[in-house]
Amino acid sequence: MIVLGIETSCDETGAAVVTSDGSVKSDVVQSQVKLHAPYGGVVPELASRDHLRNVRPVLAQALEQAGVTAAELDGIAVTCRPGLTGALLVGVQAARGLAWSLKKPLVGVDHLVGHLLSVFLRFPTAASFEPPAYPFVALLASGGHTALYRVDGPSTAQIHELGATRDDAAGEAFDKVAKLLGLGYPGGPVIDKLAKEGNPEGVDLIWPMRRRGSLEFSFSGLKTDVMRWVEKNGRPGNDQLLRDLCAAFQRRVVDTLVDKAVFAATQHGVRELVLAGGVAANRELRERSAMRASENGIRVVVPPFRACTDNAAMIAYAGLQRLEAGENDELVLETSPESSLPRLTRKGRGQRVARV
Ligand code: KG4
Ligand code: ZN
Repeated sequence: MIVLGIETSCDETGAAVVTSDGSVKSDVVQSQVKLHAPYGGVVPELASRDHLRNVRPVLAQALEQAGVTAAELDGIAVTCRPGLTGALLVGVQAARGLAWSLKKPLVGVDHLVGHLLSVFLRFPTAASFEPPAYPFVALLASGGHTALYRVDGPSTAQIHELGATRDDAAGEAFDKVAKLLGLGYPGGPVIDKLAKEGNPEGVDLIWPMRRRGSLEFSFSGLKTDVMRWVEKNGRPGNDQLLRDLCAAFQRRVVDTLVDKAVFAATQHGVRELVLAGGVAANRELRERSAMRASENGIRVVVPPFRACTDNAAMIAYAGLQRLEAGENDELVLETSPESSLPRLTRKGRGQRVARV
């Protein structure tokens, strides 16, 4: 099968062509980072308008780069949830129009499922690696979501949340801390770079719910602790103190993610741990998870950088699994701000019962 994927859930307009074995024939991503940068976060209305401007040229480019015509496609997959409603609608309407005019099947894809299956993509330019076997545990850490899943297969019914963040996502914490330190948006890559030359012990910050035994996360307290530190000591200039602060913050996020992910894999008796989502691009997360996992006889599998951040290739691949099973959402495709994956962790404050 050869499938066209469309992604417009947040601040990237993406279109990609992928075949059944996960080979990426084209992967076009038009980022809106510059558009939203002055605001320190994504502005929904600006996002939808930019998707509207870009969706057609991005689609055309994806087909051209793949060297296929629209008529040669076997189906179309589009992100329909979770995401910004206006932004999602642009992709869904484009996909609907295309599917209708070409008389091709159309499936909606949950963006989170796309991230969780991104490890099966094969990019012609990336080093090849052995994909994981089901079941595996996956840590999905992005700007909007942070959760651990047990993945028994590619369909939504086979993916189970083991625990998630009660408040901020890990990427959101990177973005908010970067904003606080005047480092711009998105925060992950710049903090990652500065932290490389910093001392993680140089600044004393709290550990974000690192307790073993719980697979839930909470990053808003750590962000507030950085805020308190800045209130007390002032915003550091572009100096060693800034690098130390970034290193201390990043170490706390990374080690908490790694501890819980390795614990979840051990608890479920699985030998493979997959990292996915934008935060999986983090250098220290990749290094420390590989180290800690191997001590426990677990292999960490991380998709190439390009597959970690938002892209349409992962949507095409996840949609392919449904199209191959003969599914078609043509008449029932709707958008939703929520994921279709059942949630275990409740957001917000208060007493919890879910404990492992
Ligand atoms: O998956 P993604 O592209 O979009 C969402 O679905 O949210 O993730 C974007 C997030 C942003 O919060 C960004 O700061 C973070 O991923 N990110 C990183 C790194 N690169 C991107 N976080 C930490 N270290 C990085 N190197
Ligand atoms: Zn994402």
